[in-house]
Amino acid sequence: MKRTLAAFALAAASTLMVGLANAADEPIVIKFSHVVAENTPKGKMANKFKELVAERMGDRVMVEVYPNSQLFGDDNVLEAMQLGDVQLAAPALSKFSRYTDLLALYDLPFLFEDLDAVDRFQQSEKGQSMMHSMKKKGLIGLGYLHNGMKQLSSSQPLRVPADAKGLKFRIMSSPVLEAQFEAIDATPLKKPFSEVFTLLQTKAIDGQENTWSNIYSKKFFEVQPYITETNHGLLDYLVVTSTEFWMGLPEDLRSELKSALDEAIIYGNQIARDKGIQDRQAIIDSKRSEVIELSPEERAQWVQAMKPVWKKFEKDIGAELIDAAYAANRR
Ligand code: LMR
Repeated sequence: MKRTLAAFALAAASTLMVGLANAADEPIVIKFSHVVAENTPKGKMANKFKELVAERMGDRVMVEVYPNSQLFGDDNVLEAMQLGDVQLAAPALSKFSRYTDLLALYDLPFLFEDLDAVDRFQQSEKGQSMMHSMKKKGLIGLGYLHNGMKQLSSSQPLRVPADAKGLKFRIMSSPVLEAQFEAIDATPLKKPFSEVFTLLQTKAIDGQENTWSNIYSKKFFEVQPYITETNHGLLDYLVVTSTEFWMGLPEDLRSELKSALDEAIIYGNQIARDKGIQDRQAIIDSKRSEVIELSPEERAQWVQAMKPVWKKFEKDIGAELIDAAYAANRR
């Protein structure tokens, strides 16, 4: 009897040991959730990151990518991250207004002339420090990723701001974008990205603002007869993770993951530049939507109508930060 008990205890102990060893061997799973199609700068960057991690640390980490709002949408991904249900996401910088005032900077209309200016600012000390403005809320920015400059699509031709008067536009959940459309007497409606196509198709809204790659990959151009090339604002992302998850990783793994991510971002940024050109051309070639190019005088009217928005948010964002970002336009 004694021997049986001892054997039982030994067997139980060894099962426990194996169990523990297995738990230690299980790869860490990183769920990366995003809302866009795979054939976009963010979609491709996420897949590249997954590939690099599999190649370099496949025995220790497994990345699962969930595109097209399959796992979480804009409205709930950051809460899910704080709860530990998802480990990586890259929401547009416009979608952090509940966590920080600072990132609203990037929504100011006509702030940056092009992606080179954006790069210069983001790589500066000020630009880098903004990524850490949500640490106390449990979120850390790991890197910026480009998509591109936004255009205005609509059911009606928009040449001057007065053409947008009274129209309903879908916006991301950002107070700056809300003020931007109010400044041209239009009605902004905050809606998740996953609903935009249907809202446009059913004419529940008249228009929206987005980049060429999003307008193309989500087929907005098929249900919007006009796209005005305004380049009025920036759509960039912050690759974000939870402080708890990130700081809980072994240090060597954290630094390997960060270099894989940096590499994937460089790749994604190149895709962003290429797709901005290719997808614009694909939309023109489709003949489903007319691309309206503005004369300098027409564009000046949009600038004049929208720029007063800056003053409204100067206190929240900080005049110094706005000046530094604007100065990045000068080489
Ligand atoms: C949008 O909601 O329009 C964009 O943020 C979607 C995206 O992630 O590019």
